[in-house]
Amino acid sequence: MRTLIFGASGLLGRAVMRAFADSNVTGTSFRRQRPGLITVDATSSTAVWRALDQTRPDVVVNCVGERHPDVWANAPAQAYDLNVEAARLTAEAARHHGAHLLHISSDYVFDGIAPPYRPSSRCRPLGFYGRLKLLAEDMVRTVYPEAAILRLPVLYGPVEYAAESSISEITREVSSGRPVELDDVCIRYPTHVDDAAQVCRQLATAQVQGRLVGTVHHWSAAQGFTKYQMGLLIARHLRFPPRHITAGLGDLAGGDQPVDPRLDCTDLRVALSWPPENDRTLTDEVLHVIAPWARTACSCPDGERIYPINVRIGQRRP
Ligand SMILES: NC(=O)c1ccc[n+]([C@@H]2O[C@H](COP(=O)([O-])OP(=O)(O)OC[C@H]3O[C@@H](n4cnc5c(N)ncnc54)[C@H](OP(=O)(O)O)[C@@H]3O)[C@@H](O)[C@H]2O)c1
Repeated sequence: MRTLIFGASGLLGRAVMRAFADSNVTGTSFRRQRPGLITVDATSSTAVWRALDQTRPDVVVNCVGERHPDVWANAPAQAYDLNVEAARLTAEAARHHGAHLLHISSDYVFDGIAPPYRPSSRCRPLGFYGRLKLLAEDMVRTVYPEAAILRLPVLYGPVEYAAESSISEITREVSSGRPVELDDVCIRYPTHVDDAAQVCRQLATAQVQGRLVGTVHHWSAAQGFTKYQMGLLIARHLRFPPRHITAGLGDLAGGDQPVDPRLDCTDLRVALSWPPENDRTLTDEVLHVIAPWARTACSCPDGERIYPINVRIGQRRP
């Protein structure tokens, strides 16, 4: 099976590359040029078609996207191009080349009022990002009805910079010792990026083998947390007194964040024979994820010092 992964330098794309490492896989990047990755501008039809001409994949996994709120606010056209136009171009090229397509979407296509959400549940995004992700899904379905779409919740795992995942960002805030208010209303389901990537591999394999039933799929870890609860969990693992962390309504205030967009992934679990006990949980993985981002921690507001570099890192799961 030949696989082409668009967006292989990103948080999810790197994990998907790891998940396909023992197979014939090619990854693309754009700004982050890395050995082994080809440079492709996914907003250029010519570049996307050339990548498929060169690699002739059986399946394309599209992990290109723009999920940074500052870009949505300051460069909405760029966010549209990456989330919607690039998805359309990739779907067109994949269909023309006879390659299967797995397109990545988000739980933000739901309003979060009546969880859990099944793949067939009505979509009603509240914010700009969710609307773009839904537009992209519609584009992909129009251009390539047989393409598979995988909706994922917030991801965490090995990151290259703190802002790459909200867990590392919260760790940085919590371990700064400065007063921090974290939203305690909106519930998120942090999912390990390597679990999501394994699901991508299994879905892509099922597509190529013609075993896939349905076009929209959901995957999510089961544990839900507010950002405040994540902050407390991180502080506890850093042995950091959490007195400087307060519960707030921050994310809800803008009205563009779903309160509880929990994804029902029963159908996909059954299809992939993936029992819940196979999932990594944030509670188990938190130490691995936070360690690199807690090393600059300094004084607590009350003068106590913490030494997170001494945090004991448990055995990683294989
Ligand atoms: N991260 C999450 O929590 C999360 C949750 C649910 C769904 N998703 C979805 O999953 C997908 C991947 O997200 P991610 O977190 O991995 O994003 P990411 O870390 O920001 O990675 C984005 C990828 O897109 C590439 N890219 C940017 N501009 C490009 C261009 N003009 N042409 C080609 N490639 C370009 C980037 O390459 P360079 O960096 O090399 O420029 C990078 O490989 C997105 O669709 C996102 O909406 C993410």
